[in-house]
Amino acid sequence: MRKRIQNINLSIRKISEKAAKQDRIVRFDIGQPSFDTPEHVKNAAKKGLENKQGYSPMLGLPKLRKAIIEEENSKNGFGEEGKLLEKEHVMVTTGGMGALYSIFAARLGSEDKAVFNDPCWGPYKMISEVNGNQWSQVKYWDEDRKLTEQAKEEIAEAELVVVNTPGNPTGYTLTREQAKEIGELADQNNTFLVSDEVYHRLTYGREHYSPAEFSCDSAIIGSASKNHAMTGWRIGWIVDKTENIEQYAKVSRASTACPPRISQYAAIEALENDSHVEKMRKTYEKRRDLLVERMEQLNWDFVAPEGAIYAFPEIGEDSWEFCMRMIDEGVAMVPGEPMGPESSQNVRICFGSTTTEEINKAFDIIEENI
Ligand SMILES: Cc1ncc(COP(=O)(O)O)c(C=O)c1O
Repeated sequence: MRKRIQNINLSIRKISEKAAKQDRIVRFDIGQPSFDTPEHVKNAAKKGLENKQGYSPMLGLPKLRKAIIEEENSKNGFGEEGKLLEKEHVMVTTGGMGALYSIFAARLGSEDKAVFNDPCWGPYKMISEVNGNQWSQVKYWDEDRKLTEQAKEEIAEAELVVVNTPGNPTGYTLTREQAKEIGELADQNNTFLVSDEVYHRLTYGREHYSPAEFSCDSAIIGSASKNHAMTGWRIGWIVDKTENIEQYAKVSRASTACPPRISQYAAIEALENDSHVEKMRKTYEKRRDLLVERMEQLNWDFVAPEGAIYAFPEIGEDSWEFCMRMIDEGVAMVPGEPMGPESSQNVRICFGSTTTEEINKAFDIIEENI
């Protein structure tokens, strides 16, 4: 077995394994919507069964690629008045995760470095470790929402920079000025920009801006998982120039051949008839408001989530000890420590996976046991 695979540390599994053994527990640790996939989307998959179930085209069903481009062109800075994207710029992948893996494998050799924000979603590091490329982690933004000097240096010397907005684990969402600053910086330094926008439809009182609008050499990662409550269907995508898509497709071809056909029928329906997204977003917003109120009562230090489905408060003690203790009391959260060197006293709370009743119940328990 390869050493670099053996060395991958799945420490966060300790949380889900311990939580699964508890009968009554609020699961803030699971990073997925509490909602099931909308009925009309499931029905589209059932209807899709009437077709022959062979491999789909390697880049995905043309109708889905077209629906994705319409979604991407509806973002600020794209579409008619900005960059106009075409179906040829899209490849459907097996989840956003498959999209990221294809880009890393196609672009980064063992000497090449990817930069991630501190804190960041853990799998960026895991993908790098499987792929065998270098990586570093640095705090991108200061209190005034400007790039830190250290981030500028790291991005300038790296081959690839990942920007995730709205962000996991913090819910931090870039303003237009921030998207422009980091997009232009990547461009000036010939650092390839990967803009992970899998939560782009889930923002609260803010608009989504893509740094890819400001960089000539960039890819956007999208997914049906979170915006459409479709995590198990495994549909994601990459938007990039046609010649780059051709290279990523080779990695996809070598690993999965094509994305699952049946899930693509469902994703077409989800993207074309998408009123469910706003309904879920409004519910998440209510949960976020309650969570913010409850965290304020505890005097925790945090930035109120502006998007996605997570909060990342500083709890004033070691995150592993706190999380392990709270599971015994009936609340599961994810320790911040594996998400970045500056996050050893933070915890990730997912409000996408819990109801307002559960949020209240969990915070009553935390208040009693803190
Ligand atoms: C920031 C971020 N990017 C990408 C993904 C990948 O999502 P999926 O592979 O389910 O499409 C996730 C999932 O949690 C995520 O949080």
